Amino acid sequence: MSDTYTLYNETVMDHFLNPRNMGDIKDADGVGEVGAAACGDIMKISLKIKEGRIEDARFKTFGCGSAIASSSMATELIKGRTIQEALSFTNQEVVDALGGLPPVKIHCSVLAEEALKAALEDFIKKNPESATPARAGVTA
Ligand code: FES
Repeated sequence: MSDTYTLYNETVMDHFLNPRNMGDIKDADGVGEVGAAACGDIMKISLKIKEGRIEDARFKTFGCGSAIASSSMATELIKGRTIQEALSFTNQEVVDALGGLPPVKIHCSVLAEEALKAALEDFIKKNPESATPARAGVTA
């Protein structure tokens, strides 16, 4: 058994070997690309947003297995959320949904949070009215 298999649990390996939502979105409403200073890995997340809600999310990641699994899980988790809900998304959700990551790989999940927030900021910059809760699909 290789070190990779002892380092990662089954869920992480599944999202690494069978990543969900890989690729770009044609005519994306928001795109965020970030890099990790520690390792040089790069992650890009594209969003399709309709009526204040994330309709589709896709990713392209040049990085380690943990970064690929984190972007796969993050795109799964945020689909269907409102902009406001997505703005409070944290890497801990990714870590929890993956069933945990080794401590040295936590920064890979942070990259997913940062890429998502960068994509949301890109969308809000182009659609400033969307940043108000009422228009962002938040209901009381
Ligand atoms: Fe840097 Fe995974 S080692 S993103």
